[in-house]
Amino acid sequence: MAVTEEQSTTAMPRPKPAYRLGLSGKLLLLTIPLVMIAEVLIYVPAIANFRMNRLNDRLAAANTAALVLDAAPSGMVPDSLARQILSSIGARAVAIKMGHQRRLLASADLPAAIDHDVDMRTLTVWSAIVDSFEIMLETGNQTIRLVGPASNGAQFIETVVDEAPLRASMYRFSRNLLWVSLIIAILTAALVYLALHYLFVRPMRRLTANLVGFHANPESSARIIVPSQRGDEIGVAERELSDMQRDLVSMLHQKSRLAALGLAVSKINHDLRNLLASSQLLSDQLASVPDPRVQRFAPKLMRSLERAIAFCQSTLSYGRAQEAAPDRRMILIEPVVIEVRESAGLGSDVSISWISAIERGLTIDADPDQLFRVLLNLVRNAAQALENHPKSDVATQQIRITGRREGTVAIVEVSDTGPGVPAKARDHLFEAFQTSGRPGGSGLGLAIAAELVRAHGGNIHLVEGTIGATFRIAIPDRPVELLSIRNERARA
Ligand SMILES: Nc1ncnc2c1ncn2[C@@H]1O[C@H](COP(=O)(O)OP(=O)(O)OP(=O)(O)O)[C@@H](O)[C@H]1O
Ligand SMILES: [Mg+2]
Repeated sequence: MAVTEEQSTTAMPRPKPAYRLGLSGKLLLLTIPLVMIAEVLIYVPAIANFRMNRLNDRLAAANTAALVLDAAPSGMVPDSLARQILSSIGARAVAIKMGHQRRLLASADLPAAIDHDVDMRTLTVWSAIVDSFEIMLETGNQTIRLVGPASNGAQFIETVVDEAPLRASMYRFSRNLLWVSLIIAILTAALVYLALHYLFVRPMRRLTANLVGFHANPESSARIIVPSQRGDEIGVAERELSDMQRDLVSMLHQKSRLAALGLAVSKINHDLRNLLASSQLLSDQLASVPDPRVQRFAPKLMRSLERAIAFCQSTLSYGRAQEAAPDRRMILIEPVVIEVRESAGLGSDVSISWISAIERGLTIDADPDQLFRVLLNLVRNAAQALENHPKSDVATQQIRITGRREGTVAIVEVSDTGPGVPAKARDHLFEAFQTSGRPGGSGLGLAIAAELVRAHGGNIHLVEGTIGATFRIAIPDRPVELLSIRNERARA
C-alpha cells in the first residue's frame, strides 16, 4: 500500500515553483519604506533648521532696518517711510534695547497681544523642533516676537513678525523635501533591485531551477550544475551542489547496477536450484548401482547436492542481499573439515599436501552448513593461490588447517604456503567484489565468509607475518542461558 502511495506521488507532475513575489520584488517593496523612514528622520531637524534660518533672516533684515531708522536725525522718521521699511522686511515693529532704555524704532498695525516669543539667543535644538511643528499645526495668522543679538552696539533687537508667511514657506519646503525623498527612494530601490537581481536573484534562480530539474531525474548526469567562477557564498554553494550531485549520480548508478546484479543472481540461483534438483534425481539412481566405488562416492555426492539445493533455496526464499540467521548448535569440527577437503577436491591424490591439526573432539557452536561454507571459501582460496603460483615448489605446496579452543572461543586457522595476499587486496579484503583480478574470481568468497562468521558473533582476519596466507576465525560459544533456554524449548 505504502509503495503504491509512494509511486503515485513520484508519478505526479511537480508543480512549477511560482515566483509571485521573488526576492528582488520583496526587496523593492522593503527599500522604499526604509528610505522614506530615513528621509523622515532627516526631515525633523531639517524643518527646524529651515525655520531658524528664516527667523535669522528676519532678524538680519530687522537689524538693517534698525540701522536706517536709528540713523535718522533724533530718531524721527516719517510714518509713511517707517511703514514702507517695515513692510519691505515683513515686520510689524522693530525695537532695540540700549543700556537701560528700550526704543521702539518703528511700528505698524501692532496687535493687542503677541502670540509667541522666540529668543534666538537662548534657542535649544529641542525647542526649535517643537516650535516648528507647533507652527505648522496652527491655523490663522499669529504674531511672533523675535529677539536676537543686535548689530549696532545695542544689547538686543526685537521685531514682531507674522507667522503665516513663515508657515507657508515651511509647507513649501516640506512638500519639496517629500518629492525629493520620493524620487530618492524610488531611485535607490531601483538600484538595489537591479544590483540584487543580477548579484543574487539570478544565480539563486539558476540554483533552484537546477535543483528542481535534478529532483525530476536524479540519475541523469546532464542535470548536474556547472559551477560558475564566483568566489562568494553562491559560488561555494554551486560547487558543493555540483559535487553532491556528482556523488549522488554515481551512487544511484552503482545502486541500479547492484539491483540488476541482484536480479541476475536470483535468476541464476533459481535455475541452478532446478538443475541441481535434476542432478539429485540422477544421483539417487546412481546410489542403487552395486559397484562398491559408486557406493562409496554416491552418498557424498548426494550430500553435496542436498547442501547446494538447500543453499539456493534459502537464498531465494530469504532474500538476495542477506544471509539467513545461523542455526547454531554444538558440533564437532573435524567431520566438517573432512567434508571441506573432499568438496574442494583436495583428496590424498593431489599434489597439494593437506595437514589437519585439530584438537581431538574439538566442538564449535555454529551452524554446520554455514561453517562448511566459510571453511570451503578459505580452503578454495588457499588452493587457488597455490595453483596460480607458478614459482612455488610442488613439494612445499601445503594447506594447513588447525583448530583449538581458548576458553569459550573456538579458533580455526586456514593457512597455505602460497604467495600470500597481494598488498593491494589487503585494505578491502573482506568487502564484496574486491578481488586481485584473478581470472574467474568474483571477489565474494571472503565477503561471504566474513558475513557468516560475524553472524555467529565471531570475527575473521588475516594473520600478519606468516609464510603464505593465514586466515583466523574465532567463534565464541553462545552464553549458557541462551543454550539452556533453547534446549528447553527443543524438549517442549
Ligand atoms: N590464501 C590466499 N592467498 C593469496 N591471496 C588470497 C588468499 N585468499 C584470498 N586472497 C586474495 O583475496 C582476494 C579476494 O578473495 P575472495 O575469496 O573474496 O575473492 P576471489 O577468490 O577472488 O573470488 P571468489 O571467491 O568470489 O570466487 C583474492 O582475489 C586474492 O587476491
Ligand atoms: Mg575466493
